[in-house]
Amino acid sequence: MSIYLDNAATTFPKPENVYIEMDRVIRTVGVSPSRGGYRQSLDASRILFETRESLATLLGVADSSRLIITHSATESLNLAVKGFLKPGDHVVTTTMEHNSLARPLHEMSHAGVDLTWASGDSDGYVSVDAILKALTPATRLVAMTHCSNVTGAINPAEEIGAVLKERGITFLLDASQSAGSIPLDIDKMNVDILAAPGHKGIYGPQGTGFLYIVEGLELKPLIVGGTGGGSTEITQPLELPERFESGTHNIAGIAGLKAGADFLISTGVSAIHDLEINLVNRLIEGLLSINGIKVINSDIAKLRGSVVSFTLNGVDSSVIGYTLDRDFDISVRVGLHCAPLAHRTIGTFPEGTVRVSPGAFNTEDQIDCFIAAMKQIAAP
Ligand SMILES: Cc1ncc(COP(=O)(O)O)c(C=O)c1O
Repeated sequence: MSIYLDNAATTFPKPENVYIEMDRVIRTVGVSPSRGGYRQSLDASRILFETRESLATLLGVADSSRLIITHSATESLNLAVKGFLKPGDHVVTTTMEHNSLARPLHEMSHAGVDLTWASGDSDGYVSVDAILKALTPATRLVAMTHCSNVTGAINPAEEIGAVLKERGITFLLDASQSAGSIPLDIDKMNVDILAAPGHKGIYGPQGTGFLYIVEGLELKPLIVGGTGGGSTEITQPLELPERFESGTHNIAGIAGLKAGADFLISTGVSAIHDLEINLVNRLIEGLLSINGIKVINSDIAKLRGSVVSFTLNGVDSSVIGYTLDRDFDISVRVGLHCAPLAHRTIGTFPEGTVRVSPGAFNTEDQIDCFIAAMKQIAAP
């Protein structure tokens, strides 16, 4: 039996309704929203609107037009960073970022933006203090991850958001590893911009993502073009969400995103979080019982998401990943997980780690099979 434990990359399988909805929509709707007055196009527009509404319910957003549908968290983060920062601005980020945020910020630092990297600790947590120390009077933005895709560390977003609000600094949160698997309240966290993929914790298909932009915040669009409305003007519309959604929508994918969000609403994000944390605790406990294994961020009392990284003394992580796949039919991710600075921070660069990330459809039995496999690999 195949065991998939790479849900931090993309969740698999998806809830049954995601498959059903995508199939239904591409067969029976299948046209562009907001591009025609005929019934089928109105059906597509309704799917788009209802998807925003479901995401808004999930995140506690009052006005769903502030949710921009994108193709990935990477696109959302690029839109936020490049659309907000101007030469002369100071921005604070952290050493725990995925390249999807680190690279656009680095690019901006070559375009006149001053960039400071606040460091995470050896488990990957970034403290409020580390962020405070990095702020200067010129800081316009703090851009950081909510949950590390390497160690699972959850950062204190609520406390950081409160500090930034007091100082009038914009807060961009990369919720790629938390949206859908940790209950989120955008208002409580004082988040101004939130980026997330649709294909991880929201259980939508690949090719979907979204960006929340707080009311009153101005961003420059990443791309401009056809929006289906305002066609008399040569200039890009100012209204949201159209301002940021040029080009034909991935309507079947978006329908899948809505089905994923609806699965979370009916199951409850807290229930999924509890299920995943139970599996994570079992996983950590099992790994710690194996000689030669070092688990990063192994204290189960700490606030964390469903990501566990470990190393095995003297064995290359890619060999472990390959053996798990070939001999045990178990899928995990190995290496640097697109976050080289995070591995430098926790001391696992350049070898990387083996990363195991349970999702809503994994079971205790599967975790036990994984531990049994690791016991064989560690003591052949
Ligand atoms: C923390 C973090 N940010 C951003 C991304 C990029 O997400 P996407 O592949 O949807 O662009 C990932 C994906 O692994 C991630 O873990």
